[in-house]
Amino acid sequence: MNEVKIYAPATIANLVCGFDVLGMCLEEPCDIMEMKLLGEKKVVLHSRDGFNLPADPAQNTAGAPLLAMLEELGQEQVGFELTIEKHIKPGSGIGSSAASAAGAVVAANHLLGNRFSKPDLVRFAMLGEKVASGVKHADNIAPCIYGGITLIRSIFPLDIITIPAPALHITVVHPLIEVRTSDARQILRKEVLLKDAIRQWGNIAGLVAGFMKSDYALIGRSLEDVIIEPVRSMLIPGFDEVKNSCIAAGALGGGISGSGPSIFMLSTSQQIARSVEMVMQEIFDRIGLAYHTYVTSVNTQGVRIHK
Ligand code: HSE
Repeated sequence: MNEVKIYAPATIANLVCGFDVLGMCLEEPCDIMEMKLLGEKKVVLHSRDGFNLPADPAQNTAGAPLLAMLEELGQEQVGFELTIEKHIKPGSGIGSSAASAAGAVVAANHLLGNRFSKPDLVRFAMLGEKVASGVKHADNIAPCIYGGITLIRSIFPLDIITIPAPALHITVVHPLIEVRTSDARQILRKEVLLKDAIRQWGNIAGLVAGFMKSDYALIGRSLEDVIIEPVRSMLIPGFDEVKNSCIAAGALGGGISGSGPSIFMLSTSQQIARSVEMVMQEIFDRIGLAYHTYVTSVNTQGVRIHK
């Protein structure tokens, strides 16, 4: 077996209050990747989409983690030829770079007979995030590799915890403007007020407790971000209206997906999630901004290997 096809899913980082520490894996959309094992130490990349991502592996979010993996394999003469068909648009805020990085390392590990552990794969894949945004963060990578909802308590050393959760339906709207994660991080204040920090860590603890206790009302109350959202929401036309109108339509709550511009909402049923989608569509139609919407659910498996 020296070829594999995988599906690498989109993810929602931060989950509103948990900047850089919480993330959720989605059923849709997914990138599709095919990988061949080579008998010499190199990484070859092909792209089957129109996104013009860097072909030099060291500059590519999928390539850099593979180079790091080869480095760790020492003298062994193996390499990877990877074809990427992206369906998750770069700069959309639903973990496009993480899907490339996580998908590549899961595929490579599969071809190598699963020699590396999940934390090892997260460690390699974070190098892809560094290429994409200049900073290592695992709140897209970890849910993409582990599936479900993950808490990244620490990245040095890595400490990843999967959080059990009740059924959730997720609506995402991606207004077709690009927000680069590096820019969306640059504009953040480097210091926070103690009163805001207290509110924020109360919300993070409340959200995790709400997931674990299947307490939808607590989940809804805890989907509040007093630190990042007030700054980043200025980059997203219609943000406040979308948020307020979706909650009025029955969503538990939601906010910016990752570093934006996508906005996500959590709901208790698919029917509510569909009504929320209509609310989002009406608002962006009126604003006159093109968009994509997704109504999906939590993917508990993460990157999937095609059998
Ligand atoms: N936690 C990161 C950020 C996720 O918000 O900058 C980026 O996808």
